[in-house]
Amino acid sequence: MSTVAVVGTGVIGASWAAHFLAHGLDVVATDPASDAEEKLRDDVTAILPPDDAAIDRLRFVADAGEAAAAADFVQENGPEREDVKHALFAVLDEAARPDVILASSSSGLLPSVIARGCPRHPERVVIGHPFNPPHLIPLVEVVPGRDTAPEVVDRAVEFYTSVGKRPIRLSQELPGHVANRLQAALWQEAYSLVERGVATVADIDTAIAYGPGLRWAVLGPFANQHLSGGAGGLAHVLRHLGPPTEAWWRDLGRVHLTPELAETLVAGVDAELAGTDHDRLVAARDAVLDRLLAAKAAQPDLP
Ligand SMILES: NC(=O)c1ccc[n+]([C@@H]2O[C@H](COP(=O)([O-])OP(=O)(O)OC[C@H]3O[C@@H](n4cnc5c(N)ncnc54)[C@H](O)[C@@H]3O)[C@@H](O)[C@H]2O)c1
Repeated sequence: MSTVAVVGTGVIGASWAAHFLAHGLDVVATDPASDAEEKLRDDVTAILPPDDAAIDRLRFVADAGEAAAAADFVQENGPEREDVKHALFAVLDEAARPDVILASSSSGLLPSVIARGCPRHPERVVIGHPFNPPHLIPLVEVVPGRDTAPEVVDRAVEFYTSVGKRPIRLSQELPGHVANRLQAALWQEAYSLVERGVATVADIDTAIAYGPGLRWAVLGPFANQHLSGGAGGLAHVLRHLGPPTEAWWRDLGRVHLTPELAETLVAGVDAELAGTDHDRLVAARDAVLDRLLAAKAAQPDLP
């Protein structure tokens, strides 16, 4: 595997491109936006270490077919719209060698639906869903569709592992995959708490970022819950706190994103971040993520 096609070079595509380059691969990128090449080069340069020669392995081409034809692996990052993905995957399927995996970064579309654009080789279409920013967050969700060959899933997992990612394999497709469904469950209750006037947007952000979010960055929800049970572990927690948790579930909110609620949420986050510079906040988040990942890597007792 030496050349990856990065198709669509917006927020996610640019970050993937930098990641693949940093791991020694050649990248052939494409995006139809008029200023796409210049913007991609700026974005990749900002992510790579200063004066990194890896940028010399980035080639920009005019169309998706040309990129796919040159690639050993395709990472698609176009707009999250079924019609766009169909048209794009038809081009990729036509141009790529039959053994080349066509992976979509889609946040929640079903791979079987995306593969409808691929009459030739639907068996090589898979979701390879990263988390923003892909050059920092290790998780990739690998999701097969109805027609995806099991060996394609194996090879995708192997490829992502080889470039330092931490892939998980889903056994079936479903809207939003796994991690975004978990986030959606949390957002549903967070929005509901704001709507009910229980807490402000800023307080809910504090509750997670200075509360359970700190532990979730180290261990997942099950392992954390297991530790909460002391010597009795998860079995004890489920016996002891399971029944009250079931009562909380019955009270959880169900929200609709009405224009009024959206306005309240946006006003809440604006108030929380008033006086904060956007670019400095992103840089601070990324710097802390970097150190956190290094600290985790140095801790052999973590799973
Ligand atoms: N932003 C996130 O947090 C995030 C996280 C994980 C996955 N994703 C997924 O990644 C994909 C891209 O999202 P994004 O946030 O980078 O969006 P974005 O809007 O930043 O980028 C999309 C890019 O696709 C380009 N594009 C439009 N039509 C195209 C075509 N026919 N062929 C190739 N490129 C085309 C656009 O010019 C744009 O540069 C989506 O499927 C999204 O669900 C997004």
